[in-house]
Amino acid sequence: MTPIKETNYPLLEKQIASLIEDESNLIAILSNVSAILNDSIDQINWVGFYLMENNELILGPFQGHPACVHIPIGKGVCGTAVSENKTQLVEDVHAFPGHIACDANSKSEIVVPLHKNGTIIAVLDIDAPITNRFKDSDKIALERIVNVIEQQLSHS
Ligand code: SME
Repeated sequence: MTPIKETNYPLLEKQIASLIEDESNLIAILSNVSAILNDSIDQINWVGFYLMENNELILGPFQGHPACVHIPIGKGVCGTAVSENKTQLVEDVHAFPGHIACDANSKSEIVVPLHKNGTIIAVLDIDAPITNRFKDSDKIALERIVNVIEQQLSHS
């Protein structure tokens, strides 16, 4: 098995903060964050955002193959992250009841809710083509990155 190249998360967090500072447009921010995460995180096959709209999740800015457009709240890994308002770290998607398979290559996944003024407005979703791709250290770092976006959005 190819070893996972560790992401320099402290550097990535700083790069993201400077990439989105002075910007208030949600789609522009999430598009650039998807792109930099895709460039910086090893062994992933999809990274992007789903946006809350009319009480469901709708596909937002992403990098990867085309994906499912609508996800009901409480369904799949993304919808569960919203209904539980909690990061979902899934070591093996096939063992997650109700996992929505958009890309047959995906084997593990992490989904982090993103808030504006205390309400979930989106989720960050990252898929990997290997099981157990994401560790607790990735979870902590990605939650910090989502918090950087939340801070920026709270000013707008
Ligand atoms: N697997 C996700 C659906 C989105 S794709 O991974 C891009 C889920 O179960 O919610």
